[in-house]
Amino acid sequence: MEKYVINGGNKLYGSVKIQSAKNSVLPILAAAVLTDGEVCIKDVPDITDVGNMVRILTRLGCKAAFEGRDLIIDSSTADCFEIPGGLAHELRSSVFLLGSLISRFRMAKIAFPGGCDIGLRPVDLHLTGLKRLGVEIEEQNGYILCSCPKLKGNEIMLDCPSVGATENIMLAAVKAEGITVIKNAAREPEIEDLQKFLNAIGARVSGAGSGTVRVEGVKTLNGAVFSPIPDRIEAGTFLVAAAMCGGEVELDGVIAENISSLLHKLRENGCNIGIKNDKIYLESSKRLTAVKSIETQPYPGFPTDLQAQITALNSICKGQSIITENLFETRFKYVPELRKMGADITVVNRSAFVRGVEGFKGATVVAHDLRGGAALVLAALAADGRSEVLDISHIDRGYGAFDAKLRKLGGDITRVAV
Ligand code: UD1
Repeated sequence: MEKYVINGGNKLYGSVKIQSAKNSVLPILAAAVLTDGEVCIKDVPDITDVGNMVRILTRLGCKAAFEGRDLIIDSSTADCFEIPGGLAHELRSSVFLLGSLISRFRMAKIAFPGGCDIGLRPVDLHLTGLKRLGVEIEEQNGYILCSCPKLKGNEIMLDCPSVGATENIMLAAVKAEGITVIKNAAREPEIEDLQKFLNAIGARVSGAGSGTVRVEGVKTLNGAVFSPIPDRIEAGTFLVAAAMCGGEVELDGVIAENISSLLHKLRENGCNIGIKNDKIYLESSKRLTAVKSIETQPYPGFPTDLQAQITALNSICKGQSIITENLFETRFKYVPELRKMGADITVVNRSAFVRGVEGFKGATVVAHDLRGGAALVLAALAADGRSEVLDISHIDRGYGAFDAKLRKLGGDITRVAV
């Protein structure tokens, strides 16, 4: 067990290189199981979710090896279609492997997936979609059992634009017979990135990003070298850090369009933001003004994965905000922790009512999930005095070298064994 010890109050200055997107890399690693060709994913982030996914792939019989931060996967040796409880519970993205395993083995057995404890996170849409492709599904003692003599393309209408369900169905459809059309598909940039990867290995996928994804089944797939898109949530987290601490920070290697909903809100707060090619600059020199309201929405709306960070920011702005979480029920677990640091927030149902205070004061707080944990680190960096953030393994799931990157910007943050 480790914790962060943070002495708050330093402004942040300098440049930070943004990692490849966790939410692109994970489904792409699942997709690597579809092909016998060798796949090289460039610049894979050093996060525990990736480590766990690699352990799962190895367990399935794939060969996976890092060359620096590039990950080479050879799935030609894959010979197992079961992911046992221990591994699946570590990682919600293991559910994407359903689509890949069914496609490859016509069978799959996966323990119900884990991931952040941020609400019910059902998988009904994944299963309904797979059934439409001809998959038979049983649920037995905490396992999902799938079998399917033949995968056949079909039209699938998602009840809501689930990222995971869209990706899982795309993976199952790549080698199905005929054409699959996913309507009301999620439009997240990571879906487009998965489409790009699938096409690089020889699939025929189109429409990702538009809400209707079309997959024309192919018989064979090949290998590829692929660079995933930058992590818009890591990028957003560093922007909010700079906004909260003050200073001037440059993000290196980002796609600004993918976080335009955040950039709009940060401008409304009073930050100065510049964009040039793949760089974003943020300068924050005075106390910012709270934005009136933010609601999390599927892309291109405001991302739920930045909700905790933006709430932390608005907690120390002048004025009041209402922040509404529309995607996951229990994504306010960080609020009692922020209150320990002096925040004035009341949660009613899905909304946090935030009354801005002058600033945070240092405290010992506990990270309960990935993004909430990151928000606590930002609050501690902006706080007056010393803080400890406990249970940082949640943060390690999604942020590679988080403390090192923050230290490079001038943050006083140290990782300490408990
Ligand atoms: C992905 C992201 C996660 C992000 C989320 C929303 C990955 C690895 N994770 O998670 O970081 O917070 O998108 O942008 O990419 N739902 C159902 N039934 C289902 C599936 C989902 O009702 O079968 C609901 C969920 O409860 C939630 C909403 O749909 O309310 C969106 O969830 P979804 O888009 O599926 O999120 P994930 O793919 O789990």
